[in-house]
Amino acid sequence: MTSDLKAIIHPKFKELFGEGGQLFFSAGRINLIGEHTDYNGGYVFPGAIDCGIAAQIKLNGTDKVRVFSIDFNQSAEFGVEEYDAPELSWARYIFGVCRETIKRGGKVAGFDAVFAGDVPLGAGLSSSAALESCFAYAINQLNNNGLDKMELALIGQSTEHNYCGVMCGLMDQFVSIFGKKNSLVRLNCKDLSFEYFPFEPKGYRLVLIDSCVKHELASSAYNKRRESCEKARDEIRKIHPDLETLSDAKRIWLDEVRDKISREDFMRAEYVIGEVQRVLDVCDALERGDYETVGEMMYQTHFGLSRLYEVSCEELDFLNKLARKMDVTGSRVMGGGFGGCTINLVRSELYNDFVSTAVKEFKNKFGHEPKVYDVIISDGAREIK
Ligand code: GLA
Repeated sequence: MTSDLKAIIHPKFKELFGEGGQLFFSAGRINLIGEHTDYNGGYVFPGAIDCGIAAQIKLNGTDKVRVFSIDFNQSAEFGVEEYDAPELSWARYIFGVCRETIKRGGKVAGFDAVFAGDVPLGAGLSSSAALESCFAYAINQLNNNGLDKMELALIGQSTEHNYCGVMCGLMDQFVSIFGKKNSLVRLNCKDLSFEYFPFEPKGYRLVLIDSCVKHELASSAYNKRRESCEKARDEIRKIHPDLETLSDAKRIWLDEVRDKISREDFMRAEYVIGEVQRVLDVCDALERGDYETVGEMMYQTHFGLSRLYEVSCEELDFLNKLARKMDVTGSRVMGGGFGGCTINLVRSELYNDFVSTAVKEFKNKFGHEPKVYDVIISDGAREIK
């Protein structure tokens, strides 16, 4: 993968900016379980994948940033003061990373960069976090800022909040940077402690089926989910003042405020409280090598995301149902939702049959083929020599 990106980026960099520059990469991600729990202070259980965003970068001795995006075939030039914000949406991610680095005391000297990605856009694999993390990592290194890796992840998250209008949690940027080959990482989003779990399931494979649908207004719907959770948390806090995050609430506490919050907010919170526990159950099951339980939890998550959190869609529900019908071990909508992929835990002997049937039946029903991605759990942000 990264060698292909290098082969695309290098000649373009040379053409636009001449010799030199260093190459950096950061990864997209999958998440086995723990969806919409991050901004509620709960656990997530993601892994970095073998595709992401790579950028060749060189300081240019000015106070301007000049960037070329190979995938958009566009360039942008901007300064790093607040009033310099560019219009192009991909450039705003890079600008945001510069600004957030400066806010944390880092230096951002002008630079030239060319970047490209091999993580599918809009598939829910966090191409935007890969972009933020790649530049956060590179800028930190080129300017010798010495910010630690967690701060780099937080820079990416604040970029989303302050420059891109998405009030996301930390999962994507965290794992894009901290991901490790053949391991998933369980992050406690309240205190930011984390633990790696080796993940090399024998006899099972993880595969993503990409519905190739992306719903408009996904980010405002996402922000609305977060607001619902905050309303539920605030109401519970009136009775249990020590409650810090919704993830710490007991299910019975939610029942205590049932009449005080909307039905919708209740359902959102009900899902989150269940999901936080499922992450812990999945980690326990993995340690026992009990993949059937892991899979069952994935189905429960799908149910919650579809019926309670309401972030699934017809196409993803169809894929999930089909997986169940074919006796696939686990399946669920992955990431923020409103389109994108299902993640499926499939016994190796069922893999070919499942994938070909899913492609065929999905096409019959929706008129276009879904895409299929095999999951390879890989390392996060790094310089590529
Ligand atoms: C998006 C966000 C993450 C997380 C997931 C849902 O990917 O960026 O912070 O909330 O949705 O789990």
